[in-house]
Amino acid sequence: MVSQQEDIFKNVILHAKEYGYIFPSSEIYDGLSAVYDYAQNGVELKRNIREYWWKSMVQMHENIVGIDASIFMHPTTWKASGHVDAFNDPLIDNKDSKKRYRADVLIEDYCEKLHQKALKEIEKAKKRFGEAFDEAQFIETNPCVVEYYAKKKEILERMARGLDSGDLADVKALIEELEIADPDTGSKNWTEVRQFNLMFGTKLGASTDTAMDLYLRPETAQGIFVNFLNVQKTGRMKIPFGIAQTGKAFRNEIVARQFIFRMREFEQMEMQFFVKPGEEMKYYEYWKDTRLKWHLSLGMGAENYRYHDHEKLAHYANAATDIEFNFPFGFKELEGIHSRMDFDLKAHEQFSGKKLQFFDNETNSSYVPYVVETSVGLDRMFLSIFSKSLQEETLEDGLTRTVLKLPAVLAPTKAAILPLVKKDGLPEIAQEIMEDLKWDFNVAYDEKDAVGRRYRRADALGTPFCITVDHQTLEDKTVTIRHRDTMKQDRVAIVDLRTLINEEVSIKNWLKRAM
Ligand code: GAP
Repeated sequence: MVSQQEDIFKNVILHAKEYGYIFPSSEIYDGLSAVYDYAQNGVELKRNIREYWWKSMVQMHENIVGIDASIFMHPTTWKASGHVDAFNDPLIDNKDSKKRYRADVLIEDYCEKLHQKALKEIEKAKKRFGEAFDEAQFIETNPCVVEYYAKKKEILERMARGLDSGDLADVKALIEELEIADPDTGSKNWTEVRQFNLMFGTKLGASTDTAMDLYLRPETAQGIFVNFLNVQKTGRMKIPFGIAQTGKAFRNEIVARQFIFRMREFEQMEMQFFVKPGEEMKYYEYWKDTRLKWHLSLGMGAENYRYHDHEKLAHYANAATDIEFNFPFGFKELEGIHSRMDFDLKAHEQFSGKKLQFFDNETNSSYVPYVVETSVGLDRMFLSIFSKSLQEETLEDGLTRTVLKLPAVLAPTKAAILPLVKKDGLPEIAQEIMEDLKWDFNVAYDEKDAVGRRYRRADALGTPFCITVDHQTLEDKTVTIRHRDTMKQDRVAIVDLRTLINEEVSIKNWLKRAM
C-alpha cells in the first residue's frame, strides 16, 4: 500500500473506533487478532446493510425465501462439501521475518501491479490523444499494455495449474522467479509452500470419550443445501427458486489483516438459486447484473466496482466472478457469484443416502437442480461503504470538516434533534419532536456544546439530517433541517418532518435505483 492509501486506511480505523462503530475485540486484554466488535453505531449500520440486502433479495423476489440454519452442522456435511479435504490455503513463511503469507495472494498482488501499470499507460494515452482515443484498439495493440496483460495471464495460469495439480513446488518456484519479496521486510528467503485447512474444530458433548468432533461453519451455504428439499416441499417452491440466509461464518485465515476485510469470525449474506440444468448461465448472467446494480444503488460510484471473472475455477463451478470494490488498499473481492452446477446437492445425496431432487410435474421426472450462488460478506460491505463515505472536506472559509457521507438509507441515526439553546422552552419542543419521530426512525437528541460543534459531530457520525429548534419555532412551529452533504438548511414545518426524512431514507426509494 502506498503511504497516502495507508493514511486513509488508518483514518478509517481510527474513525470507526472514535465514533463508536468498531472496537477491537476484548480490547482490555489487548485484543484478539482479526476479531472485532461492532459498537453502538456499527451495529446499526450493519443491521441496515443486512436489511437492505434481505429486502432486495427476499422480499422483492417472490421466488426467494429465507432461512436461518445453525452454525453447528453434522460433521459429514463438511466431508460432502469438500471442505475437510480441500478447504485449504497455500501458505508460505518468510524465514527472516517469520511472517506467514498466502502464496496465491503474493502472486495475485504481483499481478495487480502489472494491471495497474497497464492502466497507467492507458491513462497516459487517453490524455495524449484526447477525444480521438480508441481505448479498445490501444489495449489490443500497444506493445507495453499487451505485454503487461500477457504476463499477468501467463502467471495466473501457471499458479492455477500448480494449485490444481498440487504442484506446490512450482508455486514456490514462481514466487522466486518473479522475485517476490516479503511486503513488510523485502526479504526473499522463503520456505516451501504448504496447504493449511481453514476450518475451526470444536467438540459437541460433555464427556471426552463420546464427544463428537464438529466444525464451526466456514460458509452459510451448506445450511441452505441440506435444507433444500425441506424448503422446496414445505414452501411448495417451483424451480427456479432461491433460498437466502445471513449469518456468521468462521475461517482460520492464515493472514488476517486489513481490519474487517479478512476476519476469522465474519458474517455472510448468501443466496442459492436452484435452476434447471442447462439454464444456469442465463441465471448466472442475471445475478451478476442484478447484484452489481444493487451495489451501485448505494451511490458509492460506479468507478469503484469491477467484475473479476475467475480464470481458475473451483472443481464444482463452471463460471465464477467476483464483484471487486476499490477499498483503501486497492480493488479486492467484495462479493462472489458462482455457478456451482449440481456439485453440492449431488455430494449431499451421496453422503446422506437421501434424494435431493426436484420433481418436475410437467415432464413427470426428477432431477438434481443446478445452483447459482451469490455470496457477499457483510463486514466487507460495511468496510466498502464506511471507507468510501469518510471524507475530509475543505470549506469555503478554509476550514476543514470530517464528514461520513453514508448513504442515508444505511445511516445508523437518521436525524439529530438540537435545541439552539438550552432554555426558553426549546429543549422541550426538541424532545417532543424526538418522541414523535422515534416511532419511525432512529433519531438522537443533542443539546451539548454550541450548535456548530453539534453539526460537526453529526457530520462525523454520518447523521444525514440535523433538525434545529430555535426561537422562531415558538412562533410558527417550524424548524431548520440541515442536510449533511450539502450543509444546506431549509425552514420546514414540524408536521412535514416525517415525510421529508422518509423520502430520503426509505429503502424503497434507494432500492428503486437498482431496477
Ligand atoms: N459460499 C461461497 C463462499 O463462501 P467465498 O468467496 O469464500 O465464497 C464469500 O466467500 C464472501 O464472503 C466473500 O466475497 C467475502 O465478501 C466474504 N468473506 C470470505 N472470507 C472472509 C473473511 N475471512 N472475512 C470477511 N469476509 C469474508
